[in-house]
Amino acid sequence: FFNSPFSTSQQTLPAEVRKDGTSILDIGNQEAGNRPVKTFSLTAQEKAWQISADKSVSAWTYNGTVPGEPLRVTEGDFVKVHLKNELSVPVTIHWHGVILPNQMDGVPGLTQDAVQPGESFTYEFMANDAGTYWYHSHQHSSKQVDKGLYGSLVIEEKEPAYQQDQTYILDEWAVNQDKQNTTNMGGMMMGSMSRDGEADTKQMYDTFTVNGKSGEAIDPLQLEAGETARLRFINAGYQQHRLVFPEGSMEVIAADGEKVVNEGPSSNMLEIAPGERIDVAFTKQREEAEIIGEDPQIKNAQDMRIPVVSGEEAESFAYNQLSVSSASSKETGTSSGSEDLLFKETPETDVSYHMDLSMGMDMGEGMSFQINNKVFPNTPLIPVSEGDVVKVRITNSGRLNHPMHLHGHRFQVASKNGEAYENPIVKDLINVKPDEEYTVYFKADNRGEWLFHCHDNNHADRGMITIVDYQ
Ligand code: C2O
Ligand code: CU
Repeated sequence: FFNSPFSTSQQTLPAEVRKDGTSILDIGNQEAGNRPVKTFSLTAQEKAWQISADKSVSAWTYNGTVPGEPLRVTEGDFVKVHLKNELSVPVTIHWHGVILPNQMDGVPGLTQDAVQPGESFTYEFMANDAGTYWYHSHQHSSKQVDKGLYGSLVIEEKEPAYQQDQTYILDEWAVNQDKQNTTNMGGMMMGSMSRDGEADTKQMYDTFTVNGKSGEAIDPLQLEAGETARLRFINAGYQQHRLVFPEGSMEVIAADGEKVVNEGPSSNMLEIAPGERIDVAFTKQREEAEIIGEDPQIKNAQDMRIPVVSGEEAESFAYNQLSVSSASSKETGTSSGSEDLLFKETPETDVSYHMDLSMGMDMGEGMSFQINNKVFPNTPLIPVSEGDVVKVRITNSGRLNHPMHLHGHRFQVASKNGEAYENPIVKDLINVKPDEEYTVYFKADNRGEWLFHCHDNNHADRGMITIVDYQ
């Protein structure tokens, strides 16, 4: 039951996908041929990973570190990534948020066979849209991403607007309880049994990390007073995080890779759901060291603190004296919309789908997470034809948050709880909280079979998945 719904499926690969070495270039893609090629090798391997001075875990990594090797390319590049699997379990790489051909999407049993121990696979795609992305295994994600099989992918603009540009991947670990074996089941049991739902699913995690490091082990950001840096946050974990910045220091500039326009002042609090990416422009307010840190109301908050120091202080700042500001009440994002919309106004729709999210019990198997009362692969598909405008109304009748993520496309979030947004936002993940309702629209313009699933990977592996299926 703990295996991915896809892990046993053996599907024949389409002819144009090669297991290794040969490329889309070879098969005559003219567009690719004229572009700069950026090549990377990622080896999935087991490594002892030091989270802080006194905590280490046995991690599964891409190239020996957590997160895996950070990938940076420039918009317009043609990207080739050779994956080699040195683990004892099959893996893949999913390019979260990247619009690419279906065969490169890294979903085992759906878009490719999982890459078996000792085997390799080459991923190829065009880095067309600048922004923040990430990559992770999509094989048995609730375990493999949890154990460290993830990394960042940044597609830089041709002319970057900020002198400093940093990526921060957030995660949680259950170091004390041998996370590797017990976390998922334990967390799930507690979550399912508790009355107040989400709070309890977090009890298993005793350690938070930023870029694989916790507390004082987190690298300080070096910035002079008055300087502005682009900070790209990615949530690779299971829980929503709330980062608090010094008052007036930050502005959200992108969400899920799409540029955001701000109307009115920004909050100093950034809420980021599992799977989500949010970029901010951060300006250091004072000469003295400052801190960006998890809302102190969240358990283990002290682990997730990024010191911001200027040149002289870098060696000598008093870490323990830095305190996180208090969060201002305004939520981020409420008045911000995307710069580029998919639809200028409410479109005529060709396909309408109501997606209701809930929790249930499966005979003999414990908790399940459902779409329209069904568990994947029995969830109703979203059947589309190329060119269709698809409307999905998402409701949450359960007690937990469900960050719903669509592969291969972006959607426009048009309304929340029945009220149209004045400034719609274009994303590929929307965190649907209990009793909330969102309406999203997307254009079916990328052929293939694409997952639409909860990015709490425990929920996905326990059924909360459907497929956008091109007829
Ligand atoms: Cu981060 Cu199915 O994806
Ligand atoms: Cu969920």
